[in-house]
Amino acid sequence: MLVLGLETSCDETGVALYDSERGLLADALFSQIDLHRVYGGVVPELASRDHIKRMLPLIEQVLADAQCSAKDIQGIAYTAGPGLVGALLVGAACAQALAFAWEIPAIGVHHMEGHLLAPMLEETPPQFPFVALLVSGGHTQLVRVDAIGQYRLLGESIDDAAGEAFDKTAKLMGLKYPGGPEIARVAEQGVPGRFKLPRPMTDRPGLQFSFSGLKTATLTAWQKCIAAGDDNEQTRADLAHAFQQAVVATLTIKCQRALEQESLQTLVIAGGVSANQALRRSLEAMLSKRQGQVFYARPEFCTDNGAMIAYAGCQRLMAGQQEGDAIHVRARWPM
Ligand code: KG4
Ligand code: ZN
Repeated sequence: MLVLGLETSCDETGVALYDSERGLLADALFSQIDLHRVYGGVVPELASRDHIKRMLPLIEQVLADAQCSAKDIQGIAYTAGPGLVGALLVGAACAQALAFAWEIPAIGVHHMEGHLLAPMLEETPPQFPFVALLVSGGHTQLVRVDAIGQYRLLGESIDDAAGEAFDKTAKLMGLKYPGGPEIARVAEQGVPGRFKLPRPMTDRPGLQFSFSGLKTATLTAWQKCIAAGDDNEQTRADLAHAFQQAVVATLTIKCQRALEQESLQTLVIAGGVSANQALRRSLEAMLSKRQGQVFYARPEFCTDNGAMIAYAGCQRLMAGQQEGDAIHVRARWPM
């Protein structure tokens, strides 16, 4: 089955063609980062307008790249939530209009299910069952995955998501948007051990996360440096390193706990923060001690993309699911 996938939940317009027999045929992405950077974060109205501009040219581009014609497409998947409602509506309206015109089924996909399944697009996909750590700008969740569609939430953040903590902390330290890759870049020059930051909620049992206290602790440390006239590039790098280490150590401890609790040896990490190299190294080290394995998507499929939506939608359409023709999206939506 050949499925067109559309992703418009935030500031990336992602379009892809996935075929159940031949795999991923084409994918294209337009990132709006430059549009939003001057505002220090995503401006929802600008995001919606830009998705409208980009969508049809990107669809034409993937059809040309895959040397397909519109009549080859057998189903359309779109992100139905969670995300920015205006942005989601662009993808949903476009998908439903094309599905109606081409007389094919459409299916709304959960954005985090898309992220969760993105590692399935790699050459060596993980085998069920596994524990998944979903770490994006909006979510930090540990999920037990027994099969496609069989997900059990093990724990999640009670406040900021990991990516959100990266973004907010970067902003407080005067770094550019989006903050995750910026902190990772700056942290490379950081000297380990200069700052001691908390590893939130690791000293008590359970699989919940909390990142807002860590953000405040980092801000307090940075303000002390400013007051002491020590707010130079090296200090910023040292603090960025300490912050990243605190997030990585916290996520690693909780992943290990989840694997032990579920008696599993396979971990999947997905979502924007799973592109973080320090996190990957730390989880790989933890898993190799347990004779287990960690799986993740290629960097461009860790952040938002159309391929993960095409893949997740294809699985659901092949299982016989499809949507009515109502245009229905959700800002919040438990997976
Ligand atoms: O999954 P995603 O593209 O969008 C959401 O669904 O939210 O995740 C975006 C988040 C942002 O918070 C961004 O700062 C973070 O992922 N991120 C990173 C890295 N690359 C992206 N965080 C840490 N290290 C990175 N290399
Ligand atoms: Zn995402």
